[in-house]
Amino acid sequence: MRTVLEIIKMSTDFLEGKGVEQARLQAELLVGHALGLKRMQLYLQFERPLLEPELETIRGLLRRRGQREPLQYIVGTTEFFGLTLKVDRRALIPRPETEYLVSLLTERVNPPARLLDLGTGTGAIALALAVHWPNCSVLALDVSPEAVALAEENARATGLADRVTVRPSDWFAALRTGEQFDLIVSNPPYLTVQETDETAPEVRQFEPRQALTPGPSGLEAIDRIVARAQDFLASGGVLALETGIAQHEGIAIKLAAAGFARHESLTDLTGRPRYVLAWR
Ligand SMILES: C[S@@+](CC[C@H](N)C(=O)[O-])C[C@H]1O[C@@H](n2cnc3c(N)ncnc32)[C@H](O)[C@@H]1O
Repeated sequence: MRTVLEIIKMSTDFLEGKGVEQARLQAELLVGHALGLKRMQLYLQFERPLLEPELETIRGLLRRRGQREPLQYIVGTTEFFGLTLKVDRRALIPRPETEYLVSLLTERVNPPARLLDLGTGTGAIALALAVHWPNCSVLALDVSPEAVALAEENARATGLADRVTVRPSDWFAALRTGEQFDLIVSNPPYLTVQETDETAPEVRQFEPRQALTPGPSGLEAIDRIVARAQDFLASGGVLALETGIAQHEGIAIKLAAAGFARHESLTDLTGRPRYVLAWR
């Protein structure tokens, strides 16, 4: 009979052979998930022999990870700004960079009464900000009906469905004329088609393509958002975008052309320009 530690070592070798990064960590997380154990608990059971049904479960998970399915889709959840969110192939896996955008907003923006999250995916940004601003009412839109369904499930699971409404919409299309928000936030698709084709297999084979790229230039979605955002921003309201690292010059020109009073480029934790705030 194989022990937990032996299976972790064999799983690590298997995943390494499939080109999976951080294979040992991934193996520990998958074995832990199969056994219903956190990593620390797993370490305390290294010498425990595994039963055949447990091995069978582990094999199934490893097979999926070996085909480069992302760990988060396999375990079915991810952590985002203190929330545990359901994730699956219906929506992009929320990234740490986006968590950082949320934390920047909590520091730099006055608590909004009404917030709009465009391209909500799992609902990550909308839900995290709803927790942080308990008096804020949030509308979360996405063009993908599958993402809308998932975001609704997450809104219910986090107990926020009374303040976070999720609806299908092609950017602003579902909004009524005159509807106004104090903060409009979006992490839109911003990769070029070529950049998307060059992402890791986990991304290009499993995450929804329309969450990754809006078209050949990578700017098609941002252009549409910048062009219309002021129609739905209250006076003094803020548009906050996550962007690609080489897009700020072009975005600055478009923000000025759209008539935004001022804007600011912000960097991520590695110093790359990744976020834009623009004030009406
Ligand atoms: C980069 S993902 C961001 C998801 C989520 N906000 C996050 O940060 O994890 C972009 C999202 O925009 C959505 N999207 C793409 N085109 C759209 C459109 N025309 N209108 C509304 N949403 C769109 C995608 O379905 C996807 O959920």
